[in-house]
Amino acid sequence: MAILVTGAAGFIGCNMVQRLLASNHRIFGIDNLSNGSRKNIAHSLQDARFVFVEADLSDLSAFMPVAQQFHSTDPITEVWHLAANSDIPAGIDDAGVDLRDTFMTTFNTLEVMKRLKIKQLAFASTSAVYGDHENVRLHEDIGPLLPISNYGAMKLASEALISAAAEAWLERAWIFRFPNVIGVPATHGALLDFIRKLRQTPDNLNVLGNGTQQKGYLHVSELIDAMLYIREFAEERLAYYNIGSDDEGVTVRFMAEQVVAAAAPAAKISFGEGNKGWVGDVPRFVYSIEKLRALGWQPKIGSADAIKLAIHEIIDQEMHQ
Ligand SMILES: NC(=O)c1ccc[n+]([C@@H]2O[C@H](COP(=O)([O-])OP(=O)(O)OC[C@H]3O[C@@H](n4cnc5c(N)ncnc54)[C@H](O)[C@@H]3O)[C@@H](O)[C@H]2O)c1
Repeated sequence: MAILVTGAAGFIGCNMVQRLLASNHRIFGIDNLSNGSRKNIAHSLQDARFVFVEADLSDLSAFMPVAQQFHSTDPITEVWHLAANSDIPAGIDDAGVDLRDTFMTTFNTLEVMKRLKIKQLAFASTSAVYGDHENVRLHEDIGPLLPISNYGAMKLASEALISAAAEAWLERAWIFRFPNVIGVPATHGALLDFIRKLRQTPDNLNVLGNGTQQKGYLHVSELIDAMLYIREFAEERLAYYNIGSDDEGVTVRFMAEQVVAAAAPAAKISFGEGNKGWVGDVPRFVYSIEKLRALGWQPKIGSADAIKLAIHEIIDQEMHQ
């Protein structure tokens, strides 16, 4: 019996692979390495229970034979679908990016699962499915769901497809809606961006937007705890849960100041204009994790401490590149 992890070489995927191996599972991983890397899974590849193949999930003719091969070696009972485009601005510039990497990867994952009769799916969704509700606390049943990025739109469409599959043939589905996750190996995100910019120009940090954007941040170790907790304890056939920090979050200004203090204390911070980092960025949202708390899980690390921890981890990562 094995678990298939898509996006296995990405930030969250490689952490998930490690955690699943630690709980004694046989893991198959797929990634096209567009944003992930073999380096991220080098440690896991030393474990004979992990097998990785590079393939594009948006191409069913490439994906299906790999999945069939895996399934014939050891039957897959569950899929963790974590592959997606994670460059939201790139998806705004070209809607085809999220159609291909965020939606078609989900469409094809379901297609493969249906053909191979794999009936359990865990899916990494996002707070971006909600759109911009300004200061209204985002709980799972708020509406209307009107995403403001193509990424959010294609994640919402993916959720809809999973919901339809759960009605027809999928026995269990867990949909995790999380906002900003931080930690290592960082493959994208504001902290990595700031740290890399400061390595290039140690005396100045240019920040997109005016720094007032405010969001909650969750460390990847806690995200994985929460996802596995929901996987174990949620009883619904189609379980959908917010996962996030249990606070009002921190501003981009706070993050920039923390990065500067840790990486280049003499640097001056220059802010841009407007309260959005890019088109499609939700500038401020307050997240509800009441449903998850009622299930019995809540994070131990607040947003500010998660940021400080991740800054040190990412600086260390960049120094050892
Ligand atoms: N990191 C966050 O803050 C965050 C927040 C909400 C949701 N998510 C979701 O969590 C999941 C993992 O995100 P991440 O932060 O690890 O990003 P990531 O970019 O590090 O990982 C995604 C992986 O998917 C792979 N991939 C992309 N398109 C592919 C394709 N067509 N075929 C095969 N592989 C493909 C990439 O190479 C990458 O390794 C994604 O679904 C993302 O949308 C992440």
